[in-house]
Amino acid sequence: MSQYKAAVVGLGQIGLTYDFDPKRERPSAHVFAYQLNPRIELVAAADVRINQCQALHKIASAVTFYQSLDELLKDHSVDIISICTPPVHHLSAIQYILQNTDTKIIFCEKPLVSCVDEAKLLAQKLQKGNCLLIPNLSRRWNSGMQRVKAHVANRQYDELQKIHVKYTRGIHNTGSHFLDLLHWWGGKISEVQVIRKINTSADYDSDPSYTFAFLIDENILGFAEAFDDEQYYLFEIDLYFSKGKIEIRNSGDDVFYYQVGEHHLYTGFKSLYLERCENQLLSESNLANAINHLVNILDGLEQPLCTVEHGVYPLYVAETLIRSFNNHCSKESVRF
Ligand SMILES: NC(=O)c1ccc[n+]([C@@H]2O[C@H](COP(=O)([O-])OP(=O)(O)OC[C@H]3O[C@@H](n4cnc5c(N)ncnc54)[C@H](O)[C@@H]3O)[C@@H](O)[C@H]2O)c1
Repeated sequence: MSQYKAAVVGLGQIGLTYDFDPKRERPSAHVFAYQLNPRIELVAAADVRINQCQALHKIASAVTFYQSLDELLKDHSVDIISICTPPVHHLSAIQYILQNTDTKIIFCEKPLVSCVDEAKLLAQKLQKGNCLLIPNLSRRWNSGMQRVKAHVANRQYDELQKIHVKYTRGIHNTGSHFLDLLHWWGGKISEVQVIRKINTSADYDSDPSYTFAFLIDENILGFAEAFDDEQYYLFEIDLYFSKGKIEIRNSGDDVFYYQVGEHHLYTGFKSLYLERCENQLLSESNLANAINHLVNILDGLEQPLCTVEHGVYPLYVAETLIRSFNNHCSKESVRF
């Protein structure tokens, strides 16, 4: 079997250094995920910080280091490029790759671009060409989250009616993950209304956190509550169906499935009973799964599970939440 050549630009946390954290499952960052995949040859990596050269060579000694994407691309022609730089750099990097190379897949960190105006520019740039742009909305690669998707799609608990979310750290940061999951599982949010702004550490990155109500496709009512991560980190989602409930707990590490049965205390009423639980779902490497998926796409075996539309959608909801907050917590429609 042939090998595909890959490169990584941006050697910060998700590009490289998460794999130096002993608490994280490996691989947790792009460099090591490529290194471990037998179908990939990681040939080069770039970061504006020269110190990242030494850090790179701790786990990928044969990979050539560059201080810019342009220099890297002068020397190498690759099949896949991972963009792991801050969001403000994503659009210019995507444009440069599209204009100057024959790269087959750009695997770009979320958020795909930094605002809705950039998302519109991106749509124009992508109109021609064969390069696939795949956002890393990492929870889509997790088999536990894929089983939730199948459960909802097969209507195993009948109709999805209500969703409750608890989150910390920003409508762009954590928001891009849970808004994508809601889109994937339930459909597009049509309306939002902010109730209150909550202080979290994401405020230092100018990323606000709101408690808000939302509506999906006119019939699924939702409520998302923001918590301050200076107290504790929280990422939980409850999906309420007419005949059951799914609970996503501990950032998606645990999922509980409840089905409806006769109430054990009250005649004539029903209650929810635990049907099964799945634990340690995050011990599976989402990034390793993603890289396998990219190889399968290049082999012609799979279609992308995550598209540009999925990548930009959370930005439109985040923009609407900001509009709602700025308009004294008005009800606002999402213009996607
Ligand atoms: N999918 C996920 O779960 C996940 C997790 C963490 C971060 N992210 C996303 O990944 C991106 C990076 O986040 P991070 O936490 O790794 O940030 P970071 O600040 O740790 O790393 C960014 C790196 O990019 C480098 N860089 C900046 N501009 C550059 C340029 N023009 N050329 C080359 N290198 C450049 C910086 O020097 C730095 O090393 C963000 O978009 C973030 O939202 C996604």
